[in-house]
Amino acid sequence: MSFRFNFVVNNEEDNNAVVEDTKKYIQGSELIPNNEVKTLQIIGETISIPNSNVKMFKRNVSDIKFEIASNEEDGDNMIATAVLQQTDIIPGVYEGGLKTWECSVDLVKYLSELSNDNFENKSILELGCGSALPGVYCLTRGANVDFQDYNQEILSLVTIPNVLINTVNTPTKNSIAKNGTFETELNFSNIDSSKTRFWYGDWDSLNDLFQSQNRRYDVILTSETIYSIEYHERLYKIIKNSLNDHGVVYIAAKANYFGCSGSLYQFLDLVEKDKKFSIEVVYTYSDFIRREIVKLQLL
Ligand SMILES: C[S@@+](CC[C@H](N)C(=O)[O-])C[C@H]1O[C@@H](n2cnc3c(N)ncnc32)[C@H](O)[C@@H]1O
Repeated sequence: MSFRFNFVVNNEEDNNAVVEDTKKYIQGSELIPNNEVKTLQIIGETISIPNSNVKMFKRNVSDIKFEIASNEEDGDNMIATAVLQQTDIIPGVYEGGLKTWECSVDLVKYLSELSNDNFENKSILELGCGSALPGVYCLTRGANVDFQDYNQEILSLVTIPNVLINTVNTPTKNSIAKNGTFETELNFSNIDSSKTRFWYGDWDSLNDLFQSQNRRYDVILTSETIYSIEYHERLYKIIKNSLNDHGVVYIAAKANYFGCSGSLYQFLDLVEKDKKFSIEVVYTYSDFIRREIVKLQLL
C-alpha cells in the first residue's frame, strides 16, 4: 500500500510522503539518557511562538537529517530510509517525529496563556512527542515531564537534544547568530532524570507497561497524533488509563488529514461514545485546514 501523508508543515520542512506499509510493531520501553553516554555536536535554531512572547530552541531538522545520513550504514535504519525517501511516515516503523508539526506550536501558544498553577510540580506526559515543544515548554515552567515517541531514535536525535537546549544547555545571547541559529555540544548525562523520563514504542504496549507501573499523570498532551484511525483506540486507551482522576488532556490536531484515515472528529466520536470525558474545544485556528485544541476531563 502507498499513500500521501498530506500534512501542512512548517516553513523549510518538506511535505513529501510516499509510504510503505509494514507489520512491525515497536514494543514499549524506557530510554535512559545516562545509559547512552552520548555527547552530541548540534546546530540549533530559535523558534518564536506566533502571537506570544515565547521563544524556544529546537534542533535544526537539516542537522538531524545530516546525522541520520552519516549513520545510514548502521544496520536496519528505517529512519534513514524515511529521510532519504523524503517520507513523512512509514506506518508501524517511523511515525513522523522528526519534524515540528504546526499543532504543536499552537499547543505551546495555548499553554503559554495558562497560569503557573497548571505546571509547577505537575506530572505531565507528552504522547507522540517528536520534537516535543509543548512538553519542553512545560518543563521550563516547573513541571515534571515524561516524553513518549514511537521511535527510540527520535528521542535521541530530536527530543533529548530539544530538552537540553531549552533547560541546562540554553545558548547564550552571544552564541546565537542573527538568523537565530547556534552550535553547541550536548551531553545526555545532563538530563535531570528526577524531572523527566523518556519512553518509546507503540501506545498499546506502553499502556500495558504504564499500567504495570501504576503510572498516572496530571496532564497529558498530544499533538498531531490522530491522523490514523487504526491508532485511535490505542491512543484513547493509554490516555484514559494514564490520567489522574482530576487530570486534564489537551489534544492538538487538524480537523482533517487528507489522504489519511483519521480525523479529529472520528477520534472525538470515540471519546464521546465512551461517556467518560467532557470535551471542550479551547482553541481554533482556521486556515486552509482548521486546527483545534480539545480539552478532555474525566466526568
Ligand atoms: C506526526 S508526528 C507528530 C509529532 C509531534 N507531536 C508534533 O506535533 O510535532 C506523530 C507522532 O505520533 C507518534 N505515534 C504515532 N503512532 C503511534 C503509535 N501507534 N504508538 C506510539 N506513538 C505513535 C509518533 O511518535 C510521532 O512522533
